[in-house]
Amino acid sequence: MIRISTCCLAVSAALLGLSTMVAAAQGRGREQGENANVSPVYGVKLPKGYRDWKLISVAHEAGKNNDIRAILGNDIAVKAYREGKRPFPDGAVIVRLAWQYESSPRNDAVFPAPQSFVAGAPTNVQVSVKDSRLYAASGGWGYGQFDSGKANPSEALTRSCFACHAKLDAGSDQVFTAYSH
Ligand code: HEC
Repeated sequence: MIRISTCCLAVSAALLGLSTMVAAAQGRGREQGENANVSPVYGVKLPKGYRDWKLISVAHEAGKNNDIRAILGNDIAVKAYREGKRPFPDGAVIVRLAWQYESSPRNDAVFPAPQSFVAGAPTNVQVSVKDSRLYAASGGWGYGQFDSGKANPSEALTRSCFACHAKLDAGSDQVFTAYSH
């Protein structure tokens, strides 16, 4: 009798250990983007309050994207831009918001000829986060794309960020956008 309960104790202890391990692994999975709203590969979040950050510049992409973009930075990024500091210091975050590029018949009605193009529906938000130690393997930058506020789960898409941004010369610190005064 005593032997049986010792055996059962050992088995349940082993099961408990196993379920703790499984729970820990599930927790890690969640942190890496299954349920937590973070990008794959880098674990980048949509930063709080980014919509109120300062404007760095604007851009327009024709072709397939056909969008209009605003590039905003947090205080660390904007300070580095204004001081011309490269590489960007750790903690710098740059977000790129994009909207469909649309002609505006409503605005054109007051002009002598069609000429007004405006931001339509939002497309996606891309985020670059500088952390030279955490993201040492990708030049010090972590990346993420958010569609309707949700982290895009595609690992291939997320890896394409560094692959393309790394094509810039070293002096640019993987950032294309120049500060518009
Ligand atoms: C094929 C090349 C390419 C890929 C892939 C790419 N980017 Fe970019 N990115 C650019 C270029 C060029 C600009 C500046 C011009 C523009 O926005 O059209 C830019 C601008 C940005 C900016 C504004 C700051 C800056 O560096 O100029 C952010 C933020 C950004 N990209 C993040 C991302 C993220 C996140 C991904 C991946 C999900 C990504 N990019 C994928 C080429 C690329």
